[in-house]
Amino acid sequence: MTEVVRVNRSDGVATITIDNPPVNALGHAVRKGLLAALEAAWSDPDVRAIVLCAAGRTWPAGADIREFGKPPGEPSLPALCRALSKSRKPVVVALHGNVLGGGLELALVAGLRIARPGTQLGLPEVSLGILPGGGGTQRLPRLIGAKPALGMMLTGLPITAERAGDLGLVDVLADDPDAAADRAARAWIAGEADLPLASERKVTPTDAEAWLSAVAEARRGLGPSGRLPAPARIVDCVEAALLLPEDEGHAFERVAFKELLATPQSAALRHAFLAERRAQRPSGVGGASPREIEHVGVVGGGFMGAGIATALIGAGYKVTLLERDAEALAAGLARVATQHERAVEKGRLDPEMREEEWARIEGATQVEAFHPVDMVIEAAFEDEAVKSGILAELDRVVKPGAILATNTSYLDINRLADATSRPGDVIGLHFFSPVHAMKLIEVVVTDRTEPDVVATGFAVAKRLGKVAVRAGVCDGFIGNRMLTAYRTATDFLLEDGASPYEVDRAMVAFGFPLGPYQVLDMAGLDISWARRKWLAAARDPTRRYVAIGDRLCEAGRLGQKAGRGYYLYSEGGRKGVEDSEVLKLIEAERDAKGIVARPVSEREIQKRALAAMANEGARILEEKIAERPSDIDLVMMMGYGFPRWRGGPMLVADREDPLMVRDRLRDYAREDEWFWRPAPLWDELIKNGRTFDDLNAD
Ligand code: 3HC
Repeated sequence: MTEVVRVNRSDGVATITIDNPPVNALGHAVRKGLLAALEAAWSDPDVRAIVLCAAGRTWPAGADIREFGKPPGEPSLPALCRALSKSRKPVVVALHGNVLGGGLELALVAGLRIARPGTQLGLPEVSLGILPGGGGTQRLPRLIGAKPALGMMLTGLPITAERAGDLGLVDVLADDPDAAADRAARAWIAGEADLPLASERKVTPTDAEAWLSAVAEARRGLGPSGRLPAPARIVDCVEAALLLPEDEGHAFERVAFKELLATPQSAALRHAFLAERRAQRPSGVGGASPREIEHVGVVGGGFMGAGIATALIGAGYKVTLLERDAEALAAGLARVATQHERAVEKGRLDPEMREEEWARIEGATQVEAFHPVDMVIEAAFEDEAVKSGILAELDRVVKPGAILATNTSYLDINRLADATSRPGDVIGLHFFSPVHAMKLIEVVVTDRTEPDVVATGFAVAKRLGKVAVRAGVCDGFIGNRMLTAYRTATDFLLEDGASPYEVDRAMVAFGFPLGPYQVLDMAGLDISWARRKWLAAARDPTRRYVAIGDRLCEAGRLGQKAGRGYYLYSEGGRKGVEDSEVLKLIEAERDAKGIVARPVSEREIQKRALAAMANEGARILEEKIAERPSDIDLVMMMGYGFPRWRGGPMLVADREDPLMVRDRLRDYAREDEWFWRPAPLWDELIKNGRTFDDLNAD
């Protein structure tokens, strides 16, 4: 028997404990150990009842995602579940933590399910591009009905044990489920209580009409299935559960599961899952523990500062919001109040928590109010002199050991840190807007940031419910640097012959929610214009520079807020229409440079945009601004709308083959050596027969 599964026999009860940290994933060793333990219990005449429980923080949170794509080892999860469902001795499961995916499917075949209150139960497979492949699509609808089962499987969202109790998915709630399961088994042995066999509890669908109508409703709610095939296959399986004999239903699910597992979408979604976890292990932390943070100062109550403050009080921090005078402070606090209220309206915040959270924030107009804080996040105007001044002032006031975090998007944080006497305590926390919706934070580490300060940046991000990615200091860190490369490539195409509308359509067809020019219109064209003007003095005049964006701004076309940018907007409208004026303006720019417009296909737009991103990503890796390719993918997926089911630009480059992408970059470099020259990392990968994904494992 493997050590990940332990057995204890006492008074006719075999207690089988799964112990496979961190989340008791049902990898091969666990499945093998479980089956061996069950078989031993079945063949032991002294054992009358079986209790299944899990050590540590959770009941199995699913199949082992890291084993997907490797040859499956026997017993498979469906085989294990099938064996358990045929147990002639009653089986009780004791659930706690996250009962997810294969973990829930295993629990579904027990005769009695006991859960700790607050336990989360769900089938999140759809978020990995697959479906429950351990019998879940067949057993869950039988147990709780097709409609709620489809709801769980199509959203992938868990429900609480309390709700599961209402649905009949959990039989008993108990604070100590292991002890309760043991008591239930003993009571049955003593003849004092009933304990059904799984086979006795098998439910056959009764209301076929309701079942079929739930299936039809779910089918109507599906989007186009080409991009993400899993939801449609889940619905097919639930239909099969009604229409086919049980064994055939399970076989149908198995085929669909294997099909989905082999899709590139599922591979990309699994890559995204692992990238998120991998990013939480940044280098430079060593064994350092995070500093204790309870009270945070926020400088600036603009949209961003207010968003950060709202997130902080929501995560239980005490917050002091600083503004320059009473009027600005009132406006800042009003912004926090509005965002807080919206959280209640949108159901993100329990109304009962509103008062409690709001009591955690106070305003100040004097920096001295920051004396007791453990950390400050400054979200002031994006200007080096302004931010340096603020950091220097904060440094004078805040207590020793307090961390100074800056929410800059581009500035050199090494230089900002020089303005303080505590450069080791300075870090970048680059939030994305709007803060409540964007889960990404770039944790920007300077040459001197202390390891425990890095650890604190990650701990704060986690407590805020965000995903942190470590970035080094450079202009734009990881994300904005990638964005600049993306936009440069598409700006070149505008001059060469594409329209902004063709570019946007091509990138939306690739899977972005919006194209780059739609995004610019939404954000306001003046933001990047101001930056370009600021960088103008340092620009190399021999480099190709596309001035179309500048011309639009000069013509007052500042985007949605001005009613016109790359698109034309009706009063207050957010959906733009194409505008021939913009095309004329672009034509004039081409004429001025003597460029004759050429046709540019959708495929070419996508290829160039993706090659530009991957090449910038390679440079970012060479410069160690990002630690691994999957960190870059994660930033692009979580911060910039790169479709998650594509897995990010570095994975896309791997998929095509680094050699092909390198050669394409070489071709493009004949037009513009400075922008398109392939980063040396491509040659290194090709020479060693490696991919970017191989670097993730290093
Ligand atoms: N397989 C392998 N490793 C897993 C895993 C899984 N299913 N779930 C979590 N882990 C690992 C993570 O990679 C991480 O590893 P690391 O510490 O080495 O980086 C560790 O467990 C802790 O995970 P988190 O950092 O995510 O911890 P949290 O406490 O924030 O969250 C969780 C815990 C809610 C369980 C979350 O990890 C989660 O949602 N996991 C995925 C659950 C899932 O998708 N299950 C379905 C799998 S597919 C399946 O079961 C198919 C079946 O139908 C055939």
